[in-house]
Amino acid sequence: MLIEIEDGARANDSLAANLASSGRDLSRRDRAFVTELVQGTTRMRRAIDYVLQPFLRRKLDPDVRAALRMGTHQLLHLGTPPHAAVNDTVDVAPRRASGLVNAVLRKVASANTQWPNEAIRHSYPDWIWELFINTWGQDGRASLIAMNSPERPSARPDGYIQGQASRWVSDEADAASAKGGSMVDLCAAPGGKTTAFGSQWSSLYANEIDPTRAKNLRETISRFREGTAVVIGDGTKAPFADGCVDAVLVDAPCSGLGALGRRSDARWQISEKAINRLVLIQGALLGEAFRLLRPGGILSYSVCTVTQEETVKVPADFEASHPGLTNLALTGTHWRPHHQGGIVLPHDYGTDGMAIFQWKRQS
Ligand SMILES: C[S@@+](CC[C@H](N)C(=O)[O-])C[C@H]1O[C@@H](n2cnc3c(N)ncnc32)[C@H](O)[C@@H]1O
Repeated sequence: MLIEIEDGARANDSLAANLASSGRDLSRRDRAFVTELVQGTTRMRRAIDYVLQPFLRRKLDPDVRAALRMGTHQLLHLGTPPHAAVNDTVDVAPRRASGLVNAVLRKVASANTQWPNEAIRHSYPDWIWELFINTWGQDGRASLIAMNSPERPSARPDGYIQGQASRWVSDEADAASAKGGSMVDLCAAPGGKTTAFGSQWSSLYANEIDPTRAKNLRETISRFREGTAVVIGDGTKAPFADGCVDAVLVDAPCSGLGALGRRSDARWQISEKAINRLVLIQGALLGEAFRLLRPGGILSYSVCTVTQEETVKVPADFEASHPGLTNLALTGTHWRPHHQGGIVLPHDYGTDGMAIFQWKRQS
């Protein structure tokens, strides 16, 4: 899995597929251990490689490197006793490299690493470390550290497993529209927020652009929110008439920098440049949501990130270009006031970082 992920697979997808096939017969405990090895080794890759590098003389084959990283993660971050971490890793490492793996891990076990900077120690690309510190100061540092021991999302009463911050977004959308009516969730897959809405909504539409994700969304809806209509299409050109719905949720595609704990590979995949493109999509989705809303209707915008562009500029530009919007106060006390909306940072409650803004359309 570690090799697959380094080649571009998502850690969550790789784990789901492999645990369902070759990991089928593993005990609960072993599944949890495999999950930690894969997620943790992926997440902490930069720190691990820094510790390993003084003991390596030549470029390694991917399978040998994966074994060494996994062993080093156990030594460095899991507190596994050295003999167990070394012996177990040698057992699973490619035979041809047993001697090397054994020797290197022994050195790692007794190494006294001096970290050159915190980005390496806490295993983040420099640009992400700097963005958090420059934007949030000490809160940014605490957020980054918190995302290295992420929340284990728990099951809702209906059995769906969902992070707490995501539930808080659905709660706000519910709280702002006590009378319910019709609601369009413009970016709905995998369906966490759609299926968490309260019972006041007489009609729910779950829109998703990606057909594969829409297929999974449909399955989730059939299990957790029957009666919701799934619409496949671009939410910036939604197939609804002007002013026809009571509420819209735009849980927009975003840089996901508040959800780096939940997606262990994301920090290595996300590019800073993508933020500019995402900002345009977020603005277009908000504009379309505005078109759909009837006067008096409620618009909620949420993103699982903490960048100024996506959580300040996008909502501010939207407000400036759409007169007739009134900002709504949030009901949840967990949100920090953030410009005209709210935000939770990852270390506030050990959840994903999430920002939310809500408006009523007056005219
Ligand atoms: C943050 S995720 C939504 C998570 C979902 N609301 C939940 O709680 O489970 C954003 C989703 O928007 C979809 N998306 C991206 N661009 C879109 C667009 N132009 N129109 C509709 N959906 C879009 C992505 O494929 C992704 O599934």
